[in-house]
Amino acid sequence: MNAVSAQHARVLSGMRPTGRLHLGHYHGVLKNWVELQHEYQCYFFVADWHALTTHYDNPVDIPQHVWDMVIDWLAAGVNPGEATLFVQSKVPEHAELHLLLSMITPLGWLERVPSYKDQQEKLKEKDLATYGFLGYPLLQAADILIYRAGMVPVGEDQVAHVELTREVARRFNHIYGREPDFEEKAVEAMKKMGKKAAKVYANYRKAYQEQGDEEALAAARALLDAQQNIGISDRDRLFGYLEGGGKVILPEPHPLLTKASKMPGLDGQKMSKSYNNTIPLNANAEDVEKALRTMPTDTNRVRRTDPGDPDRCPVWQFHEVYSDASVKKWVQEGCRSAGIGCIECKGPVIDAVLAELAPIQARAREYEAQPDLVKNIINEGCEKARDAARETMDEVRHAMHLA
Ligand code: TRP
Ligand code: SF4
Repeated sequence: MNAVSAQHARVLSGMRPTGRLHLGHYHGVLKNWVELQHEYQCYFFVADWHALTTHYDNPVDIPQHVWDMVIDWLAAGVNPGEATLFVQSKVPEHAELHLLLSMITPLGWLERVPSYKDQQEKLKEKDLATYGFLGYPLLQAADILIYRAGMVPVGEDQVAHVELTREVARRFNHIYGREPDFEEKAVEAMKKMGKKAAKVYANYRKAYQEQGDEEALAAARALLDAQQNIGISDRDRLFGYLEGGGKVILPEPHPLLTKASKMPGLDGQKMSKSYNNTIPLNANAEDVEKALRTMPTDTNRVRRTDPGDPDRCPVWQFHEVYSDASVKKWVQEGCRSAGIGCIECKGPVIDAVLAELAPIQARAREYEAQPDLVKNIINEGCEKARDAARETMDEVRHAMHLA
């Protein structure tokens, strides 16, 4: 696939291997992946090298975390028949692209990424003044660009990394996409489309370049996508020629901002392992019930007869996620009038969480019982990812006069 048409079709995202996932991951990330997989060519990978940038001193748990996380992805409904699941370190081409991109990346760009200083501050006990840690966002750029992904679903904290990726891609295309005879080659390529299509293309190009007509740009791209007679290289040239510059070898990706998860933790803060307030996807029914039954409520509601205020209660946030309008009304009225007790109020939430977890856990059990199947899924995903990565690297090497 050529650079730009691949871009329109592909979604890529990665997660550091943290081990078992919880409901926060499910509502914040995995449900979104499951939807995207029906619409796009999705590549989802375990960022195990990224884990090493901060956990280089204690890598022993990483393999187990990788495994557990993949099981949880599958359990959540990520479908290996639709999406490609793989492990970063099994596709060493990421490292090659990282190296090559490092040649053109100004140090200042990396030092300016907000997470660089933030994380060093936050993880004071670790020595993160390493080369690998500074290069973290550039490795992420390589992860994305090697698949020529158009969309990268990420949370707010990762948007700066996608921005850096765009800048690096632009610089790469600017330096290496500029063939000395680019203009002539582009004109030659145009001719190969045939007279009629070439003329339409030229008009769209003019409309875009002279009037900034975005619709013309989109139409021209669609026209190129539909051409049967031109090869990948010519097509990339013509994509580049549209916008004026050179060949588009590494298209710029767009962040697909996943809405902050509404999933609260058991204490009302964001659900996160470091706050110790999670419901793991593999929690058994008894533990789920206990965790919800003992979770705090409106602290002003000391006795059953005290009226409460759902706005001051983390249980209400669970109702916001799980309950329909009539249950919510029952909570609002019952709480404020002391008509219902807190245990009663938690009932529908407990039922809803258990109902949500049941199919997830059933799938997890199925996959856990078939480790060879899971290994095959990962191996096949890695192979498929490598094929796509190799295609990009052939062009990257060629552009950098390495092959
Ligand atoms: N940095 C991401 C995180 O900490 C993980 C990641 C690595 C990633 N490479 C990526 C996410 C590429 C999206 C695309 O969550
Ligand atoms: Fe919270 Fe429900 Fe108790 Fe009100 S009744 S304080 S919303 S748990």
